[in-house]
Amino acid sequence: MVKTPPQSIPIRVPFCRPDYGREERLAFEEAIASGRLEGGGTQTRECEARLQKSTGAQRALITPSCTAALEMMALALELGPGDEVIVPAFTFVSTANAFALRGAVPVFADIDPLTMNLDVEAARKAITPKTRAIMLVHYAGVGCEMEAFEALCAEHNLVLLEDAAQAVGASWNGKALGSFGAMGAFSFHHTKNITCGEGGALLVNDPALIKPSEFIRDKGTDRADFLRGTVAKYEWRVLGSSYLLSELAAAVLLGQMQREAALTQARLRIWEAYEAQFGRINSIRTPHIPGAASHNAHIYGIRFANNALRDACAAFMRDRGVMTAPHYVPLHLTPAGLKYGRASGALSHTIDTAETLLRLPLYSAMSDEDLALVLESLSDFLLENGLGTS
Ligand SMILES: Cc1ncc(COP(=O)(O)O)c(C=O)c1O
Repeated sequence: MVKTPPQSIPIRVPFCRPDYGREERLAFEEAIASGRLEGGGTQTRECEARLQKSTGAQRALITPSCTAALEMMALALELGPGDEVIVPAFTFVSTANAFALRGAVPVFADIDPLTMNLDVEAARKAITPKTRAIMLVHYAGVGCEMEAFEALCAEHNLVLLEDAAQAVGASWNGKALGSFGAMGAFSFHHTKNITCGEGGALLVNDPALIKPSEFIRDKGTDRADFLRGTVAKYEWRVLGSSYLLSELAAAVLLGQMQREAALTQARLRIWEAYEAQFGRINSIRTPHIPGAASHNAHIYGIRFANNALRDACAAFMRDRGVMTAPHYVPLHLTPAGLKYGRASGALSHTIDTAETLLRLPLYSAMSDEDLALVLESLSDFLLENGLGTS
């Protein structure tokens, strides 16, 4: 656990901070003026068209969260009891919860210690006759080994899925993350590169899954076809739920999408400043970006030699007014992970990463002064602990 911060020291640099501007306000006001705030309106359609264009997905459906989009995947594939889905053990709850909700078993496999993404060989070892799909997580917006996973899925007749929650705008060999698998999911949560507070998107890349996904989002009905005028009435077709995003949130998201390039550029500037200062220090591990990956500066994480150093660093930074954050609790060690999932192997890289990783503050509107404070604070910690600065 990270030491509880003393109340007296104000936070000068938060861990993340959304950056809303004029575009978002204008789109928001336009939505109010239209008088139509339910999902599926013009702003929703504009967001979806932009996502389809930027990713090449056959169909993009914006949703209230990435969690919702992941649940839609499990419904669209009709996964259930007797099915297994391989997921990395080092990920957010929703990656596994979506399948457990349907009665399928998430099987936790280890990560590659360099990228913190699902390890290809660990995934291969986790395959059983019950395996239906492999769910990739592109940690920190850095792509998984896509060619290897595509080959593995083809070899074992498995569905490839992507939890691209952190990967909006990132690519692998020039192809957008989220557009490789049968389906992919983005998050537009408060902490993400572009955000509307709570929001997400399902990218449907397999044309056969478009119609079922539209039904699922709209309470299991063909209401979308009814609105298009292709059916005379709408009715209950499949198991679904209410996974439409409100038009108000879609309006804010549209504003963010219009500014996405500038927001990402600003994040990259911070990421690169961290990398310039800390990237060559041997006593800590800094991000590894494979040559095929074009990342989106979602996270800058450093890993220490052990858990005590990581926690000491977090406390030291907090005392300087800088918020940092560890990341996931390994899913196979959580109460629900133990109950609903199954671990494949010892998962030692997952455990080590969870104990030693610390994420630095990273947001587009970080001032030069705040950036300097983070750089100086971490450098001081490294020096004071004999970890060197070059
Ligand atoms: C890998 C991953 N998947 C899914 C989610 C859930 O996203 P949301 O909050 O949009 O449901 C997160 C959230 O941080 C995440 O990191």
